[in-house]
Amino acid sequence: MNKFIIFLSFSLLATTLIAQDIQLPTPDKKGGKTLMQALSERKSTREFQEKELSNNVLSNLLWAANGFNRDDKRTAPTANNKQELELYVVLKTGIYFYHAKKHKLALVKKGDYRKSAGTQAYVADAPINILFVSDSEKASSKNYAYTDCGFVSQNIYLYCASEGLGTVVRGSFNKEELQELLQLPPNKEVLLAQSVGYTPAP
Ligand SMILES: Cc1cc2nc3c(=O)[nH]c(=O)nc-3n(C[C@H](O)[C@H](O)[C@H](O)COP(=O)(O)O)c2cc1C
Repeated sequence: MNKFIIFLSFSLLATTLIAQDIQLPTPDKKGGKTLMQALSERKSTREFQEKELSNNVLSNLLWAANGFNRDDKRTAPTANNKQELELYVVLKTGIYFYHAKKHKLALVKKGDYRKSAGTQAYVADAPINILFVSDSEKASSKNYAYTDCGFVSQNIYLYCASEGLGTVVRGSFNKEELQELLQLPPNKEVLLAQSVGYTPAP
Protein backbone atom coordinates (compact mmCIF):
# COMPACT_ATOMS: atom_id res chain seq x y z
CA MET A 1 0.00 0.00 0.00
CA ASN A 2 2.79 2.41 0.97
CA LYS A 3 4.65 1.60 -2.25
CA PHE A 4 1.49 2.35 -4.21
CA ILE A 5 1.09 5.75 -2.52
CA ILE A 6 4.77 6.61 -3.18
CA PHE A 7 4.39 5.56 -6.83
CA LEU A 8 1.20 7.64 -7.12
CA SER A 9 2.89 10.70 -5.58
CA PHE A 10 5.84 10.43 -7.98
CA SER A 11 3.49 10.04 -10.94
CA LEU A 12 1.50 13.09 -9.87
CA LEU A 13 4.69 15.10 -9.35
CA ALA A 14 6.02 14.08 -12.76
CA THR A 15 2.72 14.96 -14.42
CA THR A 16 2.72 18.38 -12.74
CA LEU A 17 6.30 19.07 -13.86
CA ILE A 18 5.67 17.96 -17.44
CA ALA A 19 2.45 19.97 -17.53
CA GLN A 20 4.46 23.12 -16.90
CA ASP A 21 6.42 22.75 -20.12
CA ILE A 22 4.79 24.24 -23.23
CA GLN A 23 4.63 22.03 -26.31
CA LEU A 24 4.42 24.54 -29.14
CA PRO A 25 2.03 23.91 -32.04
CA THR A 26 3.48 23.30 -35.51
CA PRO A 27 4.62 26.66 -36.92
CA ASP A 28 2.69 28.16 -39.82
CA LYS A 29 5.30 28.58 -42.55
CA LYS A 30 2.93 29.85 -45.22
CA GLY A 31 1.57 33.06 -43.72
CA GLY A 32 3.00 36.53 -43.33
CA LYS A 33 3.77 39.58 -45.41
CA THR A 34 6.17 39.56 -48.33
CA LEU A 35 9.85 39.89 -47.49
CA MET A 36 9.98 43.39 -49.03
CA GLN A 37 6.95 44.50 -46.97
CA ALA A 38 8.51 43.10 -43.77
CA LEU A 39 11.79 44.87 -44.52
CA SER A 40 9.90 48.12 -45.15
CA GLU A 41 8.21 47.85 -41.76
CA ARG A 42 11.14 46.58 -39.66
CA LYS A 43 11.87 48.90 -36.75
CA SER A 44 12.54 49.00 -33.01
CA THR A 45 9.68 49.72 -30.61
CA ARG A 46 9.92 50.33 -26.87
CA GLU A 47 6.31 50.34 -25.72
CA PHE A 48 4.30 47.19 -25.12
CA GLN A 49 0.78 46.16 -24.17
CA GLU A 50 0.24 43.54 -21.48
CA LYS A 51 -1.58 41.38 -24.07
CA GLU A 52 0.06 37.97 -24.25
CA LEU A 53 1.09 36.12 -27.38
CA SER A 54 -0.95 33.06 -28.31
CA ASN A 55 0.89 29.73 -28.45
CA ASN A 56 0.57 29.85 -32.26
CA VAL A 57 2.32 33.23 -32.44
CA LEU A 58 4.93 32.08 -29.89
CA SER A 59 5.53 28.99 -31.99
CA ASN A 60 5.96 30.97 -35.23
CA LEU A 61 8.19 33.55 -33.52
CA LEU A 62 10.61 31.01 -32.03
CA TRP A 63 10.74 28.90 -35.16
CA ALA A 64 11.47 32.02 -37.22
CA ALA A 65 14.12 33.07 -34.67
CA ASN A 66 16.21 29.91 -34.61
CA GLY A 67 14.10 26.84 -35.34
CA PHE A 68 15.13 23.92 -37.53
CA ASN A 69 14.24 24.45 -41.21
CA ARG A 70 16.12 21.32 -42.30
CA ASP A 71 16.88 18.06 -40.45
CA ASP A 72 19.92 19.47 -38.68
CA LYS A 73 20.16 23.13 -39.66
CA ARG A 74 18.30 26.26 -38.73
CA THR A 75 16.63 29.48 -39.89
CA ALA A 76 19.72 31.43 -38.73
CA PRO A 77 23.26 30.66 -39.91
CA THR A 78 26.18 30.12 -37.51
CA ALA A 79 29.90 30.34 -38.19
CA ASN A 80 31.20 26.85 -39.01
CA ASN A 81 27.69 25.55 -38.31
CA LYS A 82 28.46 25.46 -34.58
CA GLN A 83 24.83 26.19 -33.57
CA GLU A 84 26.09 27.53 -30.26
CA LEU A 85 23.13 29.77 -29.45
CA GLU A 86 20.39 28.79 -27.05
CA LEU A 87 17.27 30.87 -26.53
CA TYR A 88 15.73 31.39 -23.11
CA VAL A 89 12.25 32.85 -23.05
CA VAL A 90 11.03 35.01 -20.19
CA LEU A 91 7.24 34.99 -19.96
CA LYS A 92 4.85 36.18 -17.24
CA THR A 93 4.53 32.57 -16.06
CA GLY A 94 8.22 31.75 -15.91
CA ILE A 95 11.56 31.33 -17.64
CA TYR A 96 11.73 28.65 -20.32
CA PHE A 97 14.43 27.04 -22.44
CA TYR A 98 13.51 26.84 -26.13
CA HIS A 99 14.19 23.25 -27.16
CA ALA A 100 14.39 23.86 -30.93
CA LYS A 101 14.53 20.21 -31.97
CA LYS A 102 11.41 19.32 -29.99
CA HIS A 103 9.96 22.79 -30.67
CA LYS A 104 8.91 23.12 -27.07
CA LEU A 105 9.50 25.39 -24.10
CA ALA A 106 10.98 23.60 -21.11
CA LEU A 107 10.32 25.32 -17.80
CA VAL A 108 13.49 26.50 -16.05
CA LYS A 109 12.00 28.66 -13.31
CA LYS A 110 8.43 29.44 -12.35
CA GLY A 111 7.41 33.08 -11.70
CA ASP A 112 7.41 36.49 -13.35
CA TYR A 113 11.07 37.51 -13.88
CA ARG A 114 10.48 39.91 -16.79
CA LYS A 115 11.87 42.80 -14.72
CA SER A 116 15.20 40.98 -14.50
CA ALA A 117 15.41 40.56 -18.29
CA GLY A 118 16.72 44.10 -18.81
CA THR A 119 17.51 47.46 -17.27
CA GLN A 120 15.00 49.60 -19.20
CA ALA A 121 11.48 50.12 -17.84
CA TYR A 122 9.58 48.77 -20.88
CA VAL A 123 11.19 45.33 -20.49
CA ALA A 124 8.89 44.40 -17.60
CA ASP A 125 5.82 45.25 -19.74
CA ALA A 126 6.83 43.12 -22.73
CA PRO A 127 4.95 39.81 -22.62
CA ILE A 128 8.07 38.06 -23.87
CA ASN A 129 11.78 38.70 -23.56
CA ILE A 130 14.18 36.41 -25.40
CA LEU A 131 17.69 35.91 -24.03
CA PHE A 132 20.42 34.82 -26.44
CA VAL A 133 22.82 32.49 -24.62
CA SER A 134 26.07 31.41 -26.24
CA ASP A 135 27.99 28.28 -25.34
CA SER A 136 31.70 29.14 -25.59
CA GLU A 137 32.58 25.43 -25.72
CA LYS A 138 30.73 25.23 -29.04
CA ALA A 139 31.21 28.69 -30.59
CA SER A 140 33.96 29.33 -33.14
CA SER A 141 34.86 32.54 -31.28
CA LYS A 142 33.22 35.27 -29.23
CA ASN A 143 33.16 37.59 -32.25
CA TYR A 144 31.39 34.96 -34.31
CA ALA A 145 28.97 34.24 -31.48
CA TYR A 146 27.97 37.93 -31.43
CA THR A 147 27.68 37.86 -35.23
CA ASP A 148 25.44 34.78 -35.03
CA CYS A 149 23.20 36.60 -32.53
CA GLY A 150 22.61 39.28 -35.17
CA PHE A 151 21.02 36.80 -37.56
CA VAL A 152 18.63 35.46 -34.92
CA SER A 153 17.74 38.99 -33.92
CA GLN A 154 16.99 40.03 -37.51
CA ASN A 155 14.82 36.92 -37.96
CA ILE A 156 12.82 38.08 -34.95
CA TYR A 157 12.62 41.64 -36.30
CA LEU A 158 11.31 40.43 -39.65
CA TYR A 159 8.79 38.03 -38.13
CA CYS A 160 7.53 40.83 -35.86
CA ALA A 161 7.26 43.28 -38.77
CA SER A 162 5.32 40.66 -40.70
CA GLU A 163 3.00 39.90 -37.78
CA GLY A 164 2.38 43.48 -36.56
CA LEU A 165 4.32 42.90 -33.35
CA GLY A 166 6.72 45.35 -31.73
CA THR A 167 10.28 44.39 -30.85
CA VAL A 168 13.64 45.79 -29.83
CA VAL A 169 16.99 44.04 -29.54
CA ARG A 170 18.89 44.95 -26.40
CA GLY A 171 22.41 44.97 -25.07
CA SER A 172 21.12 46.50 -21.84
CA PHE A 173 20.76 43.83 -19.16
CA ASN A 174 22.59 42.73 -16.04
CA LYS A 175 24.68 39.83 -17.27
CA GLU A 176 25.66 38.59 -13.80
CA GLU A 177 22.08 38.67 -12.55
CA LEU A 178 20.89 36.67 -15.55
CA GLN A 179 23.79 34.22 -15.26
CA GLU A 180 22.59 33.40 -11.75
CA LEU A 181 18.88 33.47 -12.55
CA LEU A 182 19.29 31.00 -15.42
CA GLN A 183 21.85 29.02 -13.40
CA LEU A 184 24.22 29.03 -16.35
CA PRO A 185 27.59 27.26 -16.09
CA PRO A 186 30.72 29.39 -16.76
CA ASN A 187 30.89 28.36 -20.44
CA LYS A 188 27.42 29.83 -21.11
CA GLU A 189 26.77 33.56 -21.29
CA VAL A 190 23.90 35.89 -22.21
CA LEU A 191 25.12 37.97 -25.17
CA LEU A 192 21.97 39.75 -26.29
CA ALA A 193 18.28 40.13 -25.41
CA GLN A 194 15.17 41.03 -27.36
CA SER A 195 11.77 42.20 -26.14
CA VAL A 196 8.64 41.35 -28.12
CA GLY A 197 4.98 42.25 -27.73
CA TYR A 198 1.98 44.08 -29.12
CA THR A 199 2.41 47.83 -29.24
CA PRO A 200 -0.28 50.14 -27.82
CA ALA A 201 -2.85 51.46 -30.29
CA PRO A 202 -1.82 54.91 -31.60
C1 LIG B 1 23.60 45.30 -30.77
C2 LIG B 1 22.44 46.21 -30.47
C3 LIG B 1 22.16 46.55 -29.17
C4 LIG B 1 21.07 47.38 -28.86
N1 LIG B 1 20.76 47.64 -27.57
C5 LIG B 1 19.66 48.37 -27.28
C6 LIG B 1 19.29 48.57 -25.91
O1 LIG B 1 19.92 48.09 -24.98
N2 LIG B 1 18.18 49.29 -25.68
C7 LIG B 1 17.40 49.83 -26.68
O2 LIG B 1 16.40 50.46 -26.39
N3 LIG B 1 17.73 49.64 -27.98
C8 LIG B 1 18.83 48.90 -28.30
N4 LIG B 1 19.16 48.67 -29.61
C9 LIG B 1 18.27 49.15 -30.69
C10 LIG B 1 18.87 50.34 -31.43
O3 LIG B 1 18.84 51.48 -30.60
C11 LIG B 1 18.06 50.57 -32.71
O4 LIG B 1 18.21 49.47 -33.57
C12 LIG B 1 18.51 51.86 -33.42
O5 LIG B 1 18.14 52.99 -32.68
C13 LIG B 1 17.93 51.98 -34.81
O6 LIG B 1 16.51 51.94 -34.76
P1 LIG B 1 15.67 50.89 -35.63
O7 LIG B 1 15.97 49.52 -35.11
O8 LIG B 1 14.23 51.29 -35.44
O9 LIG B 1 16.13 51.03 -37.05
C14 LIG B 1 20.28 47.89 -29.92
C15 LIG B 1 20.58 47.55 -31.25
C16 LIG B 1 21.63 46.71 -31.52
C17 LIG B 1 21.91 46.33 -32.96
